Amino acid sequence: MHESRQSETHAKSGRGGDLARFFGTWLRHPIKMGAVAPSSARYCATMVGAATTQIDGPILELGPGLGVVTRALLNAGVAPERITSIEYDAEFARTLRERFPAINVIQGDGFDLDATLGDGGATKFAAILFAIPIVNMEQSERQALFSRYFRRLRPGGNLTQLSYLWKPPVKSVAGVFDVSSTPIVWDNIPPARVWIYSQAQAYHNAGAVH
Ligand SMILES: C[S@@+](CC[C@H](N)C(=O)[O-])C[C@H]1O[C@@H](n2cnc3c(N)ncnc32)[C@H](O)[C@@H]1O
Repeated sequence: MHESRQSETHAKSGRGGDLARFFGTWLRHPIKMGAVAPSSARYCATMVGAATTQIDGPILELGPGLGVVTRALLNAGVAPERITSIEYDAEFARTLRERFPAINVIQGDGFDLDATLGDGGATKFAAILFAIPIVNMEQSERQALFSRYFRRLRPGGNLTQLSYLWKPPVKSVAGVFDVSSTPIVWDNIPPARVWIYSQAQAYHNAGAVH
């Protein structure tokens, strides 16, 4: 059996059930959800393809929802033991634990990693895959948040973001990270790019993430 199948159980509903559940949660918490439907398989695979999962070390997923990106990570051959997924919604987190028993699912706030991981900032990740809505945050707050995430990345590690905005949701921060994107993935609802935040050369050279 393929590794991703071994590490995933078939708990609960299929895609139709997930769509209904996702949409129902969006109706109650539109700002926290940020999207009416789970990301398409192609969009998730694009994100995983852009993430620096080839670097040794743990992978951090923020805002996994019902696990479409988690599944794409497993399908790409990432070992489940490497993945930590932080989801705010308690029901979603419970489903994720049922579906992906070998993954470290934490129910908590992905904006406050020090509190949620409780590791004093010690864990450094090979890649961070980010899908939490940040539309209600000022640009300066977004830049500060992503700069904090960069302190959690290993040398060469990147942060990838799912967002249907057509301009970079978070602008580059000089000396910390630069932003680029993939082409638009048209089969997502709505069509969207994956935004890629890479360590600025100066930051990398300074060894700030060691
Ligand atoms: C746009 S959905 C993305 C779900 C999934 N990754 C996908 O691509 O379909 C955003 C997810 O982020 C979660 N979320 C919102 N605020 C959060 C927070 N502060 N920490 C962790 N997860 C959060 C929501 O509950 C929701 O599951």
